Amino acid sequence: MELPFSLLLLFLSFSTCLHLSHARGGQRSSLPSVGFENGGYAGSTRHLFKESRSHIGNDVARGYMTNSDLEKAVKAFGRRCSNISRIYSIGKSVNGIPLWVIEISDKPGEQEAEPAFKYIGNVHGDEPVGRELLLFLANWICDNHLKDPLAASIVENVHLHILPSMNPDGFSLRRRGNANNVDLNRDFPDQFFPLNDDVDMRQPETRAIMNWLRDIHFTASASLHGGALVANYPWDGTEDKRTNYFGCPDDETFRFMASIYSHSHYNMSSSKEFQGGITNGASWYPIYGGMQDWNYIHGGCFELTLEISDNKWPSANELPTLWEYNKMSMLNLVASLLKTGVHGRIFSSDTGRPVLGSITVKGINHTVKAGRTFADYHRLLAPGGRYEVMATVPGYKSRSTGIWLEEAAMTLDFVLDPEVTLKGFLCFLFRRRIKNNNLSKHRQLVGPKRPVVVSNA
Ligand SMILES: *[C@@H]1O[C@H](CO)[C@@H](O)[C@H](O)[C@H]1NC(C)=O
Ligand SMILES: *[C@@H]1O[C@H](CO)[C@@H](O)[C@H](O)[C@H]1NC(C)=O
Ligand SMILES: *[C@@H]1O[C@H](CO)[C@@H](O)[C@H](O)[C@H]1NC(C)=O
Ligand SMILES: *[C@@H]1O[C@H](CO)[C@@H](O)[C@H](O)[C@H]1NC(C)=O
Ligand SMILES: [Zn+2]
Repeated sequence: MELPFSLLLLFLSFSTCLHLSHARGGQRSSLPSVGFENGGYAGSTRHLFKESRSHIGNDVARGYMTNSDLEKAVKAFGRRCSNISRIYSIGKSVNGIPLWVIEISDKPGEQEAEPAFKYIGNVHGDEPVGRELLLFLANWICDNHLKDPLAASIVENVHLHILPSMNPDGFSLRRRGNANNVDLNRDFPDQFFPLNDDVDMRQPETRAIMNWLRDIHFTASASLHGGALVANYPWDGTEDKRTNYFGCPDDETFRFMASIYSHSHYNMSSSKEFQGGITNGASWYPIYGGMQDWNYIHGGCFELTLEISDNKWPSANELPTLWEYNKMSMLNLVASLLKTGVHGRIFSSDTGRPVLGSITVKGINHTVKAGRTFADYHRLLAPGGRYEVMATVPGYKSRSTGIWLEEAAMTLDFVLDPEVTLKGFLCFLFRRRIKNNNLSKHRQLVGPKRPVVVSNA
């Protein structure tokens, strides 16, 4: 009795390690084997039997959408919800499958002075829960935007872009990498290790994401993974390759965003492994070439990496439950773009027109660019703090103002003087804006609240 039992334990611990190592990293073998502390043996057994029975075969995917089912579902969504959506593709996979995106907005495809958010599922081919939940999300918003205030405010005030599958080839091959067996979450240019800087070597799926960020000015985003239950935030890599907490300049804001996800989730925040259900990427295990750090550095986009189920391939009949567990998190994360942070536009004082500029916050080494058409900016910040916010436009005098940011979002417009005018010599008074017709007209696009305007008399 003794021997077989310890063999079984050995087997179980092996399966737990395997299971964990598949999560975000997969290539590292030196992961702490934390599985036992949390799930206990019962949880491990579940994974063992599930994975051993179905590791390679197709039965894991029973009840999941195939790639052609997914394409049909996306297009059916586009027809059913045509007045709040647009369907487009950002490119093709190695095997030529279009990377379909659903954009949800009351004015899909149009430029508006609103923040944009993106969700990306199925980065890893063998992590398919996200691609299913993203269709649940789109359909739920479509069904509820006329009756649910949260859905309505997302449709009215955000452009939400949903890419259910970034890696359809990996999905049909039932494996992590794409058709060239490249891990797409290691294929982005990295700030420390320029392994991937040969653009010709980059995978088409990666290139599609990079071009997408050139076209659309995303404020924030999240990619959905499986194999753990935690909201992961930058940095993902350390300079010396050690496993250490390594916060980016917006560490506080990222912790706040990740906590919105974990605390809105059914039980992510009660994780024993990750305090509050969130983790800094590098303190979990460093990775290089990840999508999250690249988004923040090069796209100016605040991206989280969400591990949404311990089991990568739960049986398809668990998907509605997983949707219920994640629903409020997914909605609240998008809505956080409206409910928190500092938002506004930048205008020129001489023409009253929007001017292209950027926003910096004193003490945070990160610049947020304003949108090209409306010069609208959306600066996510942790609430409950004092911030010195500065607007900068080439050829104009910069302007800054101190704010106390409460829980709610704040609207703050800037009116800048051209560098060479007489006005520039005059006062630097910060005043509540009054009546300039042009500005009030522009302002209404930003939000319902009366904005504070920073300008000269
Ligand atoms: C979408 O269409 C429905 C029904 O035609 C209409 O009631 C609703 O107001 C429309 N929504 C938007 C955002 O245009
Ligand atoms: C969350 O709930 C699921 C389903 O009941 C369970 O399998 C999982 O272990 C729980 N996780 C945590 C961190 O409590
Ligand atoms: C700000 O960040 C950039 C990289 O984005 C770095 O080169 C620079 O040294 C940083 N400046 C400060 C003051 O930390
Ligand atoms: C409003 O803008 C127009 C051009 O867009 C400009 O000709 C006009 O002078 C502006 N009016 C005010 C009050 O700034
Ligand atoms: Zn993954």
